[in-house]
Amino acid sequence: MRLAITSDIHIDLNGDVVLEALCARVRAVKPDVLIVAGDIATGAQTYLATLLALKACAPELLVVAGNHDVWTSPKAKAAGVDSWTWLDKLLPALCVEAGAHLLDAGPVELGGIGFAGSLGWFDLTMREHTLDVPFESYRTGRFGGVMWNDMRFAHFDDGDGRGLISEAIAERLRARLSGHLRELKATRVVAVTHMLAWDRQVARRDRPGWSFVNAFMGSLKMGELLEADKRIELAVAGHTHIASDHRIGRIRALVTPLGYAREWRAPDVTGAVERALAVVDL
Ligand SMILES: [Fe+2]
Ligand SMILES: [Fe+2]
Repeated sequence: MRLAITSDIHIDLNGDVVLEALCARVRAVKPDVLIVAGDIATGAQTYLATLLALKACAPELLVVAGNHDVWTSPKAKAAGVDSWTWLDKLLPALCVEAGAHLLDAGPVELGGIGFAGSLGWFDLTMREHTLDVPFESYRTGRFGGVMWNDMRFAHFDDGDGRGLISEAIAERLRARLSGHLRELKATRVVAVTHMLAWDRQVARRDRPGWSFVNAFMGSLKMGELLEADKRIELAVAGHTHIASDHRIGRIRALVTPLGYAREWRAPDVTGAVERALAVVDL
């Protein structure tokens, strides 16, 4: 089975020219399954249009939600549309309409291989402990001139109008993924998360703002969950816009994001898309 894998395509910001280049590349590699590990587009209209275009390029399209995909505006939030609404109602409906599988909603088995996935969330286990930051900054997402936008635009209601803290969001989503893995009967499994699962996937730089942001990259507990399932051969993630390819025991941990145009290390969109679309034959 041939998989084509990417993440962080951010079509609302990168534009249709990127989507067209990505579709052309996907068609060229002829995958059985296209996987997009989140941060597809903010906003329902662009999200759906992106999925429809991608679904036309591959027989199967598997996605997980990214943090940008579940952002909600203050106005929408006031009307009761929080990030749970996006994750559990709006994105599943858009994926059904496009003929894509949203792994956050449930696992799938294709050609004898099980696929399970989750947005995942950060729980501060990836924060840099030597960094001199007041703990409150991790709650507000503000440190120096840095603002982590999930604190402004992602709102997971606790059922009481308040927002859950990041550790509680991460725990709930990890528990869901654990349930999805238990549902799968396949002996070979591919796991897809948006946020990172292992420390080795976090790019460490000697810059305080950068180091602060690393707290919001994912959860080491997610890595523990994935390592405990001996059937997992491949674990795909995104969220960081820095590619990596690690061997964690028997798991190949692959991050192959497109990211924002200003971050590309390729001369043009075709080159950027080519670098960001990994091909894995299982
Ligand atoms: Fe992203
Ligand atoms: Fe992200």
